[in-house]
Amino acid sequence: MSLAIKVVTLFPEMIREVLSTSILGRAERQGQVTYEVLDIRDRAVDRHGTVDDAPYGGGAGMVLMAPPVVETVEAARRDAATPLLLMSAQGERLDEDLVLELAALAAAAGELVLVCGHYKGVDQRVLDLLRPREVSIGDYVLTGGELPALVVIDALVRRLPGVLGNSDSAENDSFTAALDGGLEGPWYTRPPEYRGLAVPEILISGHHANIERWRAERSRERTRERRPDLAAGKRRPPRDRGDGAGE
Ligand SMILES: C[S@@+](CC[C@H](N)C(=O)[O-])C[C@H]1O[C@@H](n2cnc3c(N)ncnc32)[C@H](O)[C@@H]1O
Repeated sequence: MSLAIKVVTLFPEMIREVLSTSILGRAERQGQVTYEVLDIRDRAVDRHGTVDDAPYGGGAGMVLMAPPVVETVEAARRDAATPLLLMSAQGERLDEDLVLELAALAAAAGELVLVCGHYKGVDQRVLDLLRPREVSIGDYVLTGGELPALVVIDALVRRLPGVLGNSDSAENDSFTAALDGGLEGPWYTRPPEYRGLAVPEILISGHHANIERWRAERSRERTRERRPDLAAGKRRPPRDRGDGAGE
């Protein structure tokens, strides 16, 4: 069954372009996912296309009004069982564990809806009425939720079964269980020597067991050097997903 991913946004063209490209586009062409982009402005409160207004109590910036956002989400969502994500700098910080958790929830429901905020953000009543899960892609503030939504979709779609072939497998990537949540080591391809830098001998030895051992050592070394917080045993325990999701 294909997963229906729906994005609620003020800027549909930003989303469509990326979702039709590369592996995300191929996933749709292969029938693993479908994408739908819903324009909040289609449910504007007046014929001028108004979807935002000044905040009550004063202050700079505009706030996305509740009615167009709530009603676009209601039109997008099959029912309340569909996971609903609101992109927000104040949300749960995205990492590979959260990606897997969201992928499992979305796959179980067959549908996922993501809402992109803009300006100062959305009226609080959107949150009160729809109770979305708020997701942040990091501790910085972007102009809108479109790039964060695309980040979530990209990270999630590549973890759906069958989306990546062998040629771009996620199996041994950084943060996966195969590397104990750590970082991947270095990769080399042709030519064997470039500007005096040779490919490590072992990689052209043809000795697969030794190559695997070398790669595992490089991965541990790199993790220790760059991300001691991820080094073996320090990885935080997976969230209690309650749905058996995992790698
Ligand atoms: C300018 S931001 C609003 C920031 C908000 N006033 C605050 O201080 O938290 C506009 C929109 O961009 C999105 N956004 C910005 N930074 C984000 C982040 N780090 N992660 C996820 N979404 C983000 C959200 O959808 C947000 O509603």
